[in-house]
Amino acid sequence: MLLGAYTSAIGAGLSCPDWPTCYGTWVPFLHSGIVASSSYSTLQIFAEWAHRGLAMTAGFIILGTTIGAWLAYPNNRLVTWSATGALVLLPTQVLLGGLTVTENLQPFVVTTHLGVATLILLCLLTTFLTGWLSSREKMQYEQVP
Ligand code: HEM
Repeated sequence: MLLGAYTSAIGAGLSCPDWPTCYGTWVPFLHSGIVASSSYSTLQIFAEWAHRGLAMTAGFIILGTTIGAWLAYPNNRLVTWSATGALVLLPTQVLLGGLTVTENLQPFVVTTHLGVATLILLCLLTTFLTGWLSSREKMQYEQVP
């Protein structure tokens, strides 16, 4: 989310003009001509490109979190369903990220992209807090002689 905000703040939202690739390639920095001929700076292109890459990494972590939630807390609905909520929202967020680019930073799309990011964060915070509280309760219960 922070890298997304930074990308937006330095005016780099369209520094990768296409999606899902960036200038028709997955790694624009491997083609020196692309960066040199772009009207955007290397930093701007890197911020947008890294935002996409980090989003993909976050996606795998959210998948792992959801699997872990179901394995470790199968009877705790708040833990399992909040993690599942984040996983279900993820494809929508990726699609909205793509539309942010293809629809030329339409205010409605950019705002919805921020809104869904906030919902994902809320889901994951719920997973973490309820899982942590439930583990703590279990440990206290086990310590009672
Ligand atoms: C886990 C997935 C993602 C999260 C949590 C996320 C989050 C965010 C956030 C919080 C912002 C800042 C919004 C603002 O300041 O108004 C942002 C901006 C942006 N995101 Fe994402 N994003 C994700 C995936 C993607 C993907 C896959 C793309 C693909 C192109 C993308 C493209 C963009 C663009 C272009 C901006 C800049 C918009 C602007 O210039 O105003 N995002 N993102």
